[in-house]
Order: sequence, then C-alpha cells, then structure tokens
Amino acid sequence: MTLTIALAKGRTTAQVLPLLSAAGIDCTALQEKSRRLLFTDDPDFHFVLVKAPDVLTYLNRGTVDIGIVGSDILEEQGHQQFDLLDLRTGRCRFILASTPDFDPHQTSRKRIATKYPHIAQRYFQDQGEDVEMIKIEGSVELAPLTGMADAIVDITETGTTLRENHLKVFATLTPVSTHLVVNRLALKQKKTAIYQLIQALKRVRPQEV
Ligand code: PRP
Repeated sequence: MTLTIALAKGRTTAQVLPLLSAAGIDCTALQEKSRRLLFTDDPDFHFVLVKAPDVLTYLNRGTVDIGIVGSDILEEQGHQQFDLLDLRTGRCRFILASTPDFDPHQTSRKRIATKYPHIAQRYFQDQGEDVEMIKIEGSVELAPLTGMADAIVDITETGTTLRENHLKVFATLTPVSTHLVVNRLALKQKKTAIYQLIQALKRVRPQEV
C-alpha cells in the first residue's frame, strides 16, 4: 500500500528528511539538490514537494494521504483533518516585534503587518485591541522599518532576521513546530501503514523540550 505525503518545501523538508531517513524511508532522491517536485520511485512512499500554505489544499482534496507542515500554517488556515504527531522539528515561535521606539501602549490604532492575519487578529482580540491588519507575503521585517506598519507578527527561529534588521521582540505568542497531519478518509483506508509510520517517527523524533 502506497502512502502519499506532501512535504512543505524549504526549511521544513530540510529538517524532516533526516527524521524520515532514521525512520527507515529512503530519502536519497529527496536529499539531492534539484527542482524535482514529485517522487514516486519508492512503492511504499510517494512524496510531493509543495509550498507550505498548499499542504492543506492537497490534503483536503485527498490528493495526498499525509501532510508534513508547520503548526503555524495549521493554526493560521484551520482544518478538519487529523493532526496526529508533533515531529518536534522546525521549532520556532510567533512574536510581536518592531523597531525599539515602538510603544505597545500607543493610543492610535496599530497597523500590524503579517503573513498570518488570523493568528495576529486572535492575539490582539485576546488583548482587547482592534488593530489594522496588513497582509504581506514575505520579508515582513521590512514593514516597520519602512514605516508601513507599526509592528509585525511573525515567526522567528534563530533570531537572525530580527537582529540583522535591528528589531526588538515585544511579546512572545505561541510556539511552532512541524506536524504530521492525516486525511480523514486515508486514515480509515490505510490505517495500518499510517500508524506504522507514526510509530517509527515517534521513536526517532527529538525529545520534548
Ligand atoms: C521566516 C520568517 C522570518 C524568518 C525568521 O521567513 O518570516 O522572516 O524566517 O527566521 P530566523 O529567526 O531564523 O531569522 P522565511 O525565511 O520563510 O522567508 P520570507 O520572509 O520570504 O517568508
């Protein structure tokens, strides 16, 4: 029985491939630096490499059985599938950041730039604050530097991007890590294979922090 897995391209894949290999899956072709997107050589595991925000689209349509993606995306998009395993890789966190002169208590309505408008909205709602959301696709750190926004809600992993752009963290929101999510129907039809994979990954994933 073949399991088809959608992997979020980039950092997620780079950090998850050693785990999949340790769990006994041959990832040689995926580890090669190339522009290839579809990997069907292994009869047991097929892989597709997609942009992180598209993982749930493939999963919801039943095109793949399993999605491997950051909890940032799962939280932002919301979903009806089964989030079955925290792989404990790709660990980072949501933060509210800005230039050091930002006043979190400013009286005017804040302009917040983010790739995650739902998560940012929820955070400010919990604070009882109404803010203006500016949705952008990347290089979020630029928004306060150029004066387009008062602050950003984004993820930080090493802190390098914030540091190199002289931004300060004003609040830490939720932690993020890579998760394994399973299509509801696939879980019924391919239960044994899916649970075998999950058990193997549980044995090799990093320790809880
Ligand atoms: C993410 C995030 C930050 C950066 C943080 O962006 O939006 O910009 O990584 O990582 P660091 O703390 O290790 O520096 P990504 O690299 O995905 O690129 P993007 O800005 O084009 O979305």
